[in-house]
Amino acid sequence: MKTALKISGMTRTASPFDVQNIRSDFPILKQIVNNKPLVYLDNAATSQKPQAVIDSMSKYYVEENSNIHRGVHFLSDKATQSYEAARIKIQKHINAKHPEEIIFVRGTTEAINLAAYSYGRHYLKAGDEVIISAMEHHSNIVPWQMLRDEKGVVLRVIPINDRGELFIDKYEKMINEKTKLVAVVHISNVLGTINPIKEMIGLAHRNGIPFLVDGAQSIAHLKIDVQELDCDFFAFSGHKMYGPTGVGVLFGKRNLLQEMPPYQGGGDMIKSVSFEKTIYHDLPHKFEAGTPNIAGGVGMGATIDYINRIDFDAAIRHEHQLLEYATEKLSAIAGLRIIGTAKEKASVISFVIDNIHPHDIGTILDDDGIAIRTGHHCAQPVMKCFEVPATARASFAMYNTTEEVDALIKGIQRVIKVFS
Ligand SMILES: Cc1ncc(COP(=O)(O)O)c(C=O)c1O
Repeated sequence: MKTALKISGMTRTASPFDVQNIRSDFPILKQIVNNKPLVYLDNAATSQKPQAVIDSMSKYYVEENSNIHRGVHFLSDKATQSYEAARIKIQKHINAKHPEEIIFVRGTTEAINLAAYSYGRHYLKAGDEVIISAMEHHSNIVPWQMLRDEKGVVLRVIPINDRGELFIDKYEKMINEKTKLVAVVHISNVLGTINPIKEMIGLAHRNGIPFLVDGAQSIAHLKIDVQELDCDFFAFSGHKMYGPTGVGVLFGKRNLLQEMPPYQGGGDMIKSVSFEKTIYHDLPHKFEAGTPNIAGGVGMGATIDYINRIDFDAAIRHEHQLLEYATEKLSAIAGLRIIGTAKEKASVISFVIDNIHPHDIGTILDDDGIAIRTGHHCAQPVMKCFEVPATARASFAMYNTTEEVDALIKGIQRVIKVFS
């Protein structure tokens, strides 16, 4: 009895994260770029894929390729099972109550457009207000602006302080009887800020307002539990969470999705069609018109299997250590300014260097095989807040190492030397 307790006590202690083991799962990381080992620090744009995910998609094409839902033959049945199994894996991964709350889409962008188009056009009218924030990606701005231009909906924007944190008190004051939806990013792709999304959802719900979370960045760097968050919608992309491109998810609470009209019409989203009347399918198919990205869906299922096999908590801790290490090293470089210094941050560091354009930083680092992103990161309003035209951005994933951070620092020192 005592031994058993001791053993269970031991298993509860945090296990060290074997980053080299994780790296060996990602074949692309072995690449040599410009005669240097690839240092991939552009994970906020897209993450790399483990062999297991690549294999699952290739296996699908080799052994199962067929259209889903409609066929009575062997392959169609097999493909349908793999695709629908992926939906259930995703449901469990984000702890949604029902599988039909998982709507397959192309990615976060399409997920938000679906919500804006279907929920927005159906429920919102002129004068109604939608609250977003100053740190949104364009994909959580433009769909709402389109709704504004079409319906006369008013957009309200939660401002940010100079560390890159939302003014929650201003948000609270913004909520009024005209507010009909709040749509805010969970982790900023530019600033790395982790927004207090649960508190914000609570504030909206106290006023009976639904809340959409842009989870494009958080899905790979935090544990997501949509029931615990109690969000009404949660949008994310497969490709930012070690999964395939061209597939993503809109989670929506079942009662909301049931009431919402379809976003697109076509095959697979109907029960019956005649020229007089069409009866739409039940959830989730009502929102999944046409042949979907079947291989992508299967790949998403394999991605969840992969994440379940590793120690995801340890991966998150490892990423946090990298962020702290990189922040300390970058802060010590004269003339370098980190954009986004929120208390709660994850996996992203944006920076500018005096008198050096971010594109030049990115180009010179590329000579060293180091991939970072430069530009406005599809978040031009954030650039405006910080009065910069662009930033350089290093973003980490669980397979990055402190040695790679050292390579980045060395590369930046070389950039500064070139321009001095
Ligand atoms: C915060 C955030 N929202 C939305 C998106 C759009 O994601 P996707 O291009 O996969 O649709 C991104 C992509 O960078 C993002 O970082």
